[in-house]
Amino acid sequence: MRSIFVALAGLILVVADVFGVEVNNLQQLADAKKGGEKLITIKNLEVPAGVTLDLDNLQAGTTVEFAGKVTFGYTQWLGPLIKITGKNIKIEGKPGHVIDGDGARWWDGKGGNGGRKKPRFIYFQASDSVITGLRIKNSPVHCFAVNGCNNVHLTDISMDNRDGRVKGHNTDAFDVANSDGVFIKNCDVYNQDDCLAINSGRNIVFENNTCTGGHGISIGSVGNGAQVEKVLVKGCKVSQSTLGIRIKTKKDESCLLKDITFDDIVLKNIKKRGINIQGNYKNSGPTGPPSPNCPIQNLVINNVRGNVDSKGTNIAVWVANASNWFWNSRVTGGKRELPCKGVPAGMDINCGKAA
Ligand SMILES: *[C@@H]1O[C@H](CO)[C@@H](O)[C@H](O)[C@H]1NC(C)=O
Ligand SMILES: *[C@@H]1O[C@H](CO)[C@@H](O)[C@H](O)[C@H]1NC(C)=O
Repeated sequence: MRSIFVALAGLILVVADVFGVEVNNLQQLADAKKGGEKLITIKNLEVPAGVTLDLDNLQAGTTVEFAGKVTFGYTQWLGPLIKITGKNIKIEGKPGHVIDGDGARWWDGKGGNGGRKKPRFIYFQASDSVITGLRIKNSPVHCFAVNGCNNVHLTDISMDNRDGRVKGHNTDAFDVANSDGVFIKNCDVYNQDDCLAINSGRNIVFENNTCTGGHGISIGSVGNGAQVEKVLVKGCKVSQSTLGIRIKTKKDESCLLKDITFDDIVLKNIKKRGINIQGNYKNSGPTGPPSPNCPIQNLVINNVRGNVDSKGTNIAVWVANASNWFWNSRVTGGKRELPCKGVPAGMDINCGKAA
């Protein structure tokens, strides 16, 4: 009898392992993590105010699914609303789910620069891991911090912050730092700041993503000794954004940018600058001549095309230590009032002159 019971209990454990466990509150989630569940489905969960949805230290081999609606209580704090760390983990959105930050409760037009204290949405630090299929709405401020990652794939993610058109600010979609091997593909972003911002790291691919309403695709601002190497931005579309693509390094700080490629990028109705590369960035705005301590080596701008609104500027480049660039862009519209300064000798970039 006892052996039958043990066998049954074992079978139930096996069955539980195969089908996973559904959690609807944070206690159940904590229990599932502690119990070493390998498949956890978070469904219709309300995260209380000021508490992080804790997917920290997930065991290797764990899959966490999001289903139904996940919401967060309101308080002024820095978050993150969700923290995901581990090795060999998978985070997956099920059809019909939404992770709703309801950012309107925090939005005051000031973003991370003041006003209400706003929580970062998702902190992600992982190796050999995947985040796929998430539907994210209305981030209070910055959405993903991809930090200290190694070989991670973020695919088929939508970040829909269009409700923040008036008061949402600094709602970056993907901020990447200190990482080696980050692959962001097939994502759809509507926000009010950078679609991608790389501050440091190497082997970063940003491919087949659409970016609407924000500040475009950005490397930087880079400074403080940071290096950004081997970046490929390919097959992306940037629409109704202040900038198309840009690189910005901080004035009077040192850094290195090397092997950076933007290929097959479509710009549509860019408001300020189609392509912007500047070595004189300060948070308060560009100031005077760039400094040479941030060389930009082996930059490829290939088949970057599309249009800038008539009030904007077509292309602007002002750097102080550039070498080995390749440039092939076809951006129409915008003014051509700024010359390109500091580009490697012999380059023909269509700046400061009629098309
Ligand atoms: C590009 O991304 C879209 C989703 O935004 C997807 O439908 C399409 O299949 C992707 N293309 C490739 C080649 O992966
Ligand atoms: C420009 O960058 C190179 C490295 O590529 C560096 O050795 C050199 O010192 C820099 N030039 C200046 C004037 O800082």
